[in-house]
Amino acid sequence: MRVVILDGAGDIGAFGAGLILDGVVRGRIRTLGVATGSSPLAIYRALADQWIPALAHLDAFALDEYVGLPAEDPQSYHSVIRREVTDRLRLDPANVHVPDGCAADLDAECERYEAAMAAAGGVDLQLLGIGRNGHIGFNEPSSSLSSRTRPKTLMAATRRDNARFFGDPDLVPRHCLTQGLGTILDAAEVLLVAQGSGKAEAVRAAVEGPVSSMCPASVLQLHRRATILLDEEAARQLALRQYYLDTEKNRIEGLRP
Ligand code: GLP
Repeated sequence: MRVVILDGAGDIGAFGAGLILDGVVRGRIRTLGVATGSSPLAIYRALADQWIPALAHLDAFALDEYVGLPAEDPQSYHSVIRREVTDRLRLDPANVHVPDGCAADLDAECERYEAAMAAAGGVDLQLLGIGRNGHIGFNEPSSSLSSRTRPKTLMAATRRDNARFFGDPDLVPRHCLTQGLGTILDAAEVLLVAQGSGKAEAVRAAVEGPVSSMCPASVLQLHRRATILLDEEAARQLALRQYYLDTEKNRIEGLRP
């Protein structure tokens, strides 16, 4: 894993946007996996600031969606992705895909979504946040490490964390559709972003703990091209923090004997 520790949201946005723009310009990134939550917002904003026409040709696939919220609901991930990604990056809405949490047959919808991803040639770069319990997408602890897109039940702690968007905690949906951990591992490259001390324990478990379904993000240790982008607070519990900083410095300055 490449662990990059930066000063704050501005640097995180610039780094993430730089990585994505480089991939888009070189033709390596044609399909972007997009995440909701506050973590990737700095990257979307930096991409909007440095917008280039090639961005408008991207396909995008969302990680997850609540069950039972209509697409028009402002808190549905359909709406969040439209506001934060489709509009900002001027993507063609026809090329932006979010699973339908109101489908009559949710299992069939998940199969359809996997097939649509495969038909697009898979995800070239998957953006990820991380939950305080180590979830990625909505793959809660105990998720199968090889899971595919499927309906899941949200943990009480996740519903409490997301209640800030809904006002009333009882309004947070109880179920979701989420790409599986196996689906996420299929992306050619992944970029996980975490900020703030509330994520420090989950980041430690994901980067330095054992690969375990109890910390779903730890599955990224098995990915060949995973970058973990952190601010100082989120990196605070990493035992090898200084080593990661030295390694990044060497990348910039070159290897010296
Ligand atoms: C939700 C999303 C996750 C996201 C997590 C963290 O649960 N399903 O994809 O990573 O929230 O959100 P935030 O970045 O706002 O802390």
